[in-house]
Amino acid sequence: MCGIIGYIGKKDAAPILLKGLKDLEYLGYDSAGLVVHSPEALQVVRTPGKIVELEKAMGGKEYPGTMGVGHTRWATHGEPNKVNTHPHLSFDGKFAVVHNGIIENYMTLKNKLMQKGIEFKSDTDSEVVAHLIAHLYKGDVGKAVLQALNMLQGAFGLGIVSLDNPEMLIGARRGSPLLVGIAKDDLFLSSDVAAVIGHTSKVVYLDDNDVVFMRNDGSHRIVNLHSQEVQREVEEVEFSVEHVEKGGFDHFMLKEIFEQPDSIRNCTRGRLLINEGTAKLSGLATNIKELRSIDRIIITACGTSYYAGMVGEYMIEELAGIPVEVEYASEFRYRNPVIGPNTIVLAISQSGETADTLAALKESQRRGATALGICNVVGSTLARESDGGVYLHVGPEIGVASTKAFTAQVSVLAMIALLLGRMRRVSFEQGVEIAQAMQELPAKVQEILKLNDRIKDIASRFTNAPNFLYLGRHYNYPVAMEGALKLKEISYIHAEGYPAAEIKHGPIALIDENMPVVVVAPKDALFEKVLSNIQEIKARKARVIVVTTEANEHLEQFTDEVIVIPSTLSMLMPILTCIPLQLLAYHIAVLRGNNVDQPRNLTKSVMVE
Ligand code: AGP
Repeated sequence: MCGIIGYIGKKDAAPILLKGLKDLEYLGYDSAGLVVHSPEALQVVRTPGKIVELEKAMGGKEYPGTMGVGHTRWATHGEPNKVNTHPHLSFDGKFAVVHNGIIENYMTLKNKLMQKGIEFKSDTDSEVVAHLIAHLYKGDVGKAVLQALNMLQGAFGLGIVSLDNPEMLIGARRGSPLLVGIAKDDLFLSSDVAAVIGHTSKVVYLDDNDVVFMRNDGSHRIVNLHSQEVQREVEEVEFSVEHVEKGGFDHFMLKEIFEQPDSIRNCTRGRLLINEGTAKLSGLATNIKELRSIDRIIITACGTSYYAGMVGEYMIEELAGIPVEVEYASEFRYRNPVIGPNTIVLAISQSGETADTLAALKESQRRGATALGICNVVGSTLARESDGGVYLHVGPEIGVASTKAFTAQVSVLAMIALLLGRMRRVSFEQGVEIAQAMQELPAKVQEILKLNDRIKDIASRFTNAPNFLYLGRHYNYPVAMEGALKLKEISYIHAEGYPAAEIKHGPIALIDENMPVVVVAPKDALFEKVLSNIQEIKARKARVIVVTTEANEHLEQFTDEVIVIPSTLSMLMPILTCIPLQLLAYHIAVLRGNNVDQPRNLTKSVMVE
């Protein structure tokens, strides 16, 4: 995901921008740049590669100026080279622009500007914004910016610096997050609160089509695209700086795995009504009748959030008897889905900015469905555009590989299933049992985390495996899918998840001594079935790692590594069985020397199609 950090105030801008870019590194990027305003010229420095390359390019030189903007780019149009790196300068050097998102009509605009003799240097869509503003500029920067923005189609988060206006930094948002950080004498513009929390906890989240004019006297004004003033409230963010630091762990991912006892506690806090055997989720439709009338649920998401949705499908159908289907958002948005008057669409997204999931949400709303969101980032686009929903409340998830968000998403889905179930066919006693079991989860996760060294030892025997299979049944089939994704995205080892019984329909042909198999097999009603799958696998000489709740000699006879974890209700087992798989993937990736927090080719939030 691309990142924006802007500053205007009384201090030197360059060091503030560099620090802000470092706080945005976790988003994943492949080039970086910044611009600092000086009366003579806009001083632009841009490099492919990491921030350290940008610092080298700055070469210890002074960049005097108290206003500027920086950008980390994850390439969408044009390869990650210097000429495509932001900021982009206008043809006359009067404007510098950084951009998140995609300008869908950039070719049309680019051709028109080229016909007027304007030369383009990059292959990006973003460059067109700088030239367009300069082309329209006749001395009134606000007017030129608004005119240009009204000509853009597509998504943008913009930072705009004008040579003639040292007293002003401009930001604009449509479909790509942007906020203003308000400190005592300084103002910050950013795409992510992580880049401003070191300076202030007061932020204003911009809405779509907001344009903000930030001044060096500490004031700001927000208008819409028709230049009408709009008011946006100043919010207090809960994050603190240590949230964004690693807290003594080698990687954000490990920190976040170990945060899960707390994150599950925070996610369920105040929402589990043990004495009533139900859950309270104020963000859902307030009208209880509306919840009671739901006759179908479509869950839509991507990646790990999709696998959480798969667990939710099993939970809601079991407890509430409502038919549920889970759809990849990228598929759902282009299908012709059947949505009835009492269909609820549940969009799940940790970042709240995944383009496909947002598009699926909008498509379902276009078809008249009530669209609810489950997300972690307060003020994110999903949070703003859904008709209601539930925040995860687990703090920023920095590691690209999602961990605490997954267990929180499953926890929220369990509470939704409990709430809907208690309106239909879950008895008081059953509800109390489920709520109590949920309350005990953090302590059980804590127990599992004590196996970290044991799992690290297991990992050391599998770092060179060319492939992996992950198997699970029922509630643990989605966990097998999630475990495979964790491994492949950070270790770069190919891994596939399957329903355990499915191996006989093809995948067993893959199995030999070079194909380790991870089997999620808690001691539940299907355990004996899974055990026979394990025997089939062992007969083909594969090494087997099993995650179970009860070891015995019979099981150990057919497995190479047995990881025993605490037990809970079947519906809640995914929150426990996923933890060893997170740790296994993490340690294998570390042992392979990979950049665990920023794996190659990946970004924390896929904000483009
Ligand atoms: C999960 O580890 C990956 N980082 C990825 O699959 C992620 O879950 C997916 O991109 C969805 O992100 P979201 O939850 O922010 O929408």
